[in-house]
Parts: sequence; structure tokens; C-alpha cells
Amino acid sequence: MSTTTPDPLATRPLGRTGLSTTALALGTSSLGGTTIPPAHDVPEEEALATVEEVLRRGITHLDTSNQYGDGESERRLGLGLRRAGGLPDGVLLATKVDPLPGSDDFSGARVRRSVQESLERLGRERFDLVHLHDPERISFEDATAPGGPVEALLALREEGLVGHLGVAGGPVDLLRRYVATGVFEVVLTHNRLTLVDSSAEPLVEDAAAAGVAVVNAAPYGGGMLVRGPDEVPTYCYRPAGEDVLARVREMQRVCEEAGVPLAAAALQHSLRDERVAATVVGMSAPGRVARTLELARHPVDDATWARLEELAAPGRAGVGL
Ligand SMILES: NC(=O)c1ccc[n+]([C@@H]2O[C@H](COP(=O)([O-])OP(=O)(O)OC[C@H]3O[C@@H](n4cnc5c(N)ncnc54)[C@H](OP(=O)(O)O)[C@@H]3O)[C@@H](O)[C@H]2O)c1
Repeated sequence: MSTTTPDPLATRPLGRTGLSTTALALGTSSLGGTTIPPAHDVPEEEALATVEEVLRRGITHLDTSNQYGDGESERRLGLGLRRAGGLPDGVLLATKVDPLPGSDDFSGARVRRSVQESLERLGRERFDLVHLHDPERISFEDATAPGGPVEALLALREEGLVGHLGVAGGPVDLLRRYVATGVFEVVLTHNRLTLVDSSAEPLVEDAAAAGVAVVNAAPYGGGMLVRGPDEVPTYCYRPAGEDVLARVREMQRVCEEAGVPLAAAALQHSLRDERVAATVVGMSAPGRVARTLELARHPVDDATWARLEELAAPGRAGVGL
């Protein structure tokens, strides 16, 4: 019986950027409330208390984007950071560039405005890391064309407003194309390196070969793997298929027999993957922070891992995202 658990507060290098991150990072897509399933409101004070608690506990990577909550996530995160006396030394604040809410303008000019808006909301003069966000919204050709978002990001890096570039999105093969450009030092994948979907494996291999850091977001698939499939029957923000629900229920049964919360296995599945620099968990209530650290440290024995890995194996084919 092995009870070795990952240390969620251990510092890991972020690829070749020279930056570092704790193994656990804060995800803020719900910090301003969200209409994406599982939709929920978040009172501002709860959001600010969450930021305070994250910093107090020693988590050193905050992940946000221009568009989360139509900018409300960044606004609250900025307020939380101001209340904390500014971004503490050694804490990595990463944001992402987006079109204006409701618009499909992902031009280079929009990317510049997106970064300016984020700098203002977050009270910063520059960012260490900015991701191109959900590039599946435009074609690879448009993204890399003159006047497009990639050119603008390179210019922003050249000008010093941005230290390092990342690409954050869903479709694995598209992200592999971005990694192959050599422009990006970080790739953020979501919902595709979890207990039920490991279709990001080829991307992770490419990234390792290229020295690109992997950030793994949404280890709970957006909530199902922490609250269970009865309460959250969605995976990656959409209704989950019967096969996914059945596999997760079986994983839940295996975990229950072992006295392990399913969420502990889901979180540690990512945290213990040495190819992953940081695992981004969405938290928008202060109590979540201590609970997440507990889940990260909950012992899981080898026999339980072996049974879970068997149930996880079909996830290599993905869940059809
Ligand atoms: N394209 C992209 O770049 C992209 C895509 C997806 C995600 N991300 C990043 O990754 C982060 C994580 O993804 P995610 O938030 O969608 O999914 P997730 O981390 O898999 O799950 C977060 C959800 O689980 C809930 N939760 C967390 N801990 C819990 C606990 N101990 N008990 C009960 N519920 C708990 C959260 O609720 P509360 O909100 O109520 O705390 C939230 O609804 C995002 O916030 C974002 O920063 C990036």
C-alpha cells in the first residue's frame, strides 16, 4: 500500500520560461459568477475572500482571462490583489486574450486592446504570461496571418508588455499545431487530461519534446468529478454521454470502497503527472481552497490507482469533445 501523495504547494518550473508555479493553480472562470454549466452566482465578497485565501495558503499561480464573466473575473481578481497590497512576489498572474464579448473580432488590434483592458482591471503594467485563448474560434491560418493575433502577441512580447506566450484551448490537434510553431512556451489544455478523458496525451508528448510547459485545467471536468455525476451530469460544460456517466459511477464506487473521495483521485491524477507543470482548479468560495489542499493530500493506495487507471484507459480516445 502506497500513500505517497503529491504536494500541491510544491514549486515546479514552468518549462523554459524561467517562471515557476505551484503544482496547484487557481482557476477563475467562475470568480465573477458563471452562466456556463454548472451555472452559479458568486457574491463579490466570496470571490475576494477566495483570492485572499489562495494567496494566504501559498498558491502561486492565478489563471484568468479577459472574457471570464465578461471581465468581472479579472475585475474581482484585480480588486483582491489590490486589497492584498498588490501581486505578491513570486506569484504568477496569467491572463488570456479574447475578442470583445459577443464579437468574433480576434484581430491583432483587438488582441492589443484585450491586453490593455486586462492590465487596467488587474492593476498591472505588464504580464509575465499571456495565453492566446480558445484559438478554435478562428482558423489557424487567420490566427497566424499578418495582422492576426499571433503577430500581435509576438509584438507585445517584443515591446515587453508580455513576458511569455502561451496558448490555451480545447481541440488537441489544433493545439499541437500551435506548439509546433515554436512561438509558445506554455500550452494550457482543459478537460482532456482527466480521469475520464486523456485525449491530450499526444499534445503532452509534443510539448515535452519541444520543452513547452503543460498546464492542465479543469481536472474535475468542470465539476462532475468533484460533485459526482448525479449532481453535475455535465462534462466540459455540456451534457455527458451515458458511457462517461457509467464510467464515472464505477470510479465513484471504486473510490467509495477505498474510502477515497472521487475528487481526490481526479485531482491527484493530474497533480502526480510529472509532465504537468500546474493543475488549474476552478474555485470561487474561500472554503474550497482548504478542501482542495486536503483532496490533494488524501492518501490513495496503489491498488485503488490500478483499478482507476483501468477505468480511465478508454479515455485515451476522448469523450468526443
Ligand atoms: N480554454 C481555457 O483556457 C480554459 C478552459 C477551461 C478551464 N480553464 C481554466 O481552468 C480553470 C478550471 O476549470 P473549471 O473551473 O472549468 O473546472 P474544474 O476545475 O474541473 O471544476 C471547477 C468546478 O468545480 C467546483 N469545485 C471545485 N472544488 C470543489 C469542491 N471541493 N467541492 C465542490 N465543488 C468544487 C467549482 O465550484 P465553485 O466555482 O463553486 O468553487 C467549479 O464549479 C478555470 O477556472 C479556468 O481558469 C481554461
